[in-house]
Amino acid sequence: MIGNYLHFEEAEKGIFILTFNRPKALNALNAELIEELHNLIQHQIIGNTNIRVLLVTGTGDKAFIAGADIKEFLPMDSNSALSFASKVQDLLKTFESLPYPVIGLVNGYCLGGGSELALACDYIIASENAIFGQPEIRFGIMTGWGGSQRLSRSIGKNRTMELLMTGRSFNAREALSMGLVTQVVPLAELMSTGLDAARQLVALPANALRLTKKVVLRGQDMEVYQACEMESQAFALCFANANKNEGVNAFLEKRKPQFNIK
Ligand code: COA
Repeated sequence: MIGNYLHFEEAEKGIFILTFNRPKALNALNAELIEELHNLIQHQIIGNTNIRVLLVTGTGDKAFIAGADIKEFLPMDSNSALSFASKVQDLLKTFESLPYPVIGLVNGYCLGGGSELALACDYIIASENAIFGQPEIRFGIMTGWGGSQRLSRSIGKNRTMELLMTGRSFNAREALSMGLVTQVVPLAELMSTGLDAARQLVALPANALRLTKKVVLRGQDMEVYQACEMESQAFALCFANANKNEGVNAFLEKRKPQFNIK
């Protein structure tokens, strides 16, 4: 347990689980929780070389994160809104850039800022009861934590426009059809599905996973041939790591590879 609202634990060697735990408010992100997340990332996640895969979920069977805490919007003016949004955007940028796979396990309501946090994961697995949406427009505001940009990069401009402009919610099946989530499973199987995915990733070469993540994330905002050049540099770096010979030799020798974690 970290602070009041976050759980962070190593479930199995290399596999860590971060759980948002404010069930009375459906895990809505208030200022205190955001501060806890900042501290957790700075002091226990960044630089923690034991983490190979991070799973992110919410406490209970009803919500992943039901958004930013709406009650805190009332006293906010334009200046405080700007510093609030900038602070959370910095936090999500750091979170998104963690050098290993981060999988969102969405177990219920995933709205507003909750959706923006899920979008900063590498990919999302949802339970059948998951409900997504960016309802900000219905509160007289709009996305502020990068949602307009990450959502359009994830599902494309037209669908993003429709979702942000209407603020409507949608279920896990529709999220799957959009490509927003990669898999939908019964709620009772969500964590075991996430752990299975994490185990498969832990068995893969950490250096190539790290480079793949970096190239995909950075490449989407670069000119395409510059991005391809970055990819060839990363490809070349893979050939400087013993994991390349291990992977190729294992295939030729018909055995399972044993990758190092560098
Ligand atoms: N901020 C602050 N509190 C929130 C919250 C949020 N984003 N989402 C839920 N809560 C609180 C509710 O106020 C309620 O608190 P209370 O018991 O003190 O009244 C508690 O969580 C349970 O929510 P409730 O509305 O009673 O549950 P429900 O099952 O009837 O409805 C939702 C669930 C998610 C449909 C509904 O809570 C909702 O619409 N929440 C707002 C979600 C949202 O729009 N988020 C994006 C904001 S930009």
